Amino acid sequence: MKRLAKRSHPQHSRSSSRSARIVLAPSILSADIGALRAEMQQVVAYGADWLHVDVMDGSFVPPITFGANVVALARAATKVPIDVHLMIREPERHLRQFAEAGSNHITIHQEACVHLHRTLDAIHHLKCKAGVAINPATPVQAVFEVLDLVDIVLIMTVNPGWGGQKFIRSTLPKIALLRDECARRSLSPRIVVDGGIDSKTARLCTTAGASVLVAGSSIFSKANRQRAIQSLRESVA
Ligand code: DX5
Ligand code: ZN
Repeated sequence: MKRLAKRSHPQHSRSSSRSARIVLAPSILSADIGALRAEMQQVVAYGADWLHVDVMDGSFVPPITFGANVVALARAATKVPIDVHLMIREPERHLRQFAEAGSNHITIHQEACVHLHRTLDAIHHLKCKAGVAINPATPVQAVFEVLDLVDIVLIMTVNPGWGGQKFIRSTLPKIALLRDECARRSLSPRIVVDGGIDSKTARLCTTAGASVLVAGSSIFSKANRQRAIQSLRESVA
């Protein structure tokens, strides 16, 4: 496995993801766009580990959001890893621009990519960590054939497209299944959950095996971001 996964999960036990420090990745989708640079710097100052950038194409999901220029802004504003979540069809056509803008991690959707194996390889050739994401209705087994190729598996815990949606509880068994499959094969990709994560749902996810929490509205919609980050951390401590 790649460095990121190895460093964070030295053991492949059921409890490893619970005992390792949980990574917190604020999603800037819910940030104040007019003050994006300051918003990013603020959450990093309060302890964010990664910055999560949601790229939507208006086709795979209805909204159109950020391009590579926002990744470049994030890269210039902070030193933390820039975690890019591509909710776009044919992601292979756009990888280079996101890598060159400074992405550290590029996650693509299983449902949006016909040649998943080749595209994950292409992400590695661009010197980025490679991730695969699945929607709530996609069985987790859909990524088992590429598990040994990825640094990140992102389980969508809402349907992708918008911030502020309600957490879908039926995604929890998929997290546990993935954790068990990784343990069985001695693999240790980061297991990321994305959507509806707050101080109640975060604990459910880390107990099931998630080690990275993406959180948008539960951080950026709060006036006191420091407290919001702290309460997420305490909920999984
Ligand atoms: C949804 C995005 C998420 C989104 C999460 O399609 O992938 O990253 O920002 O927002 P919250 O945390 O508000 O559900
Ligand atoms: Zn996301």
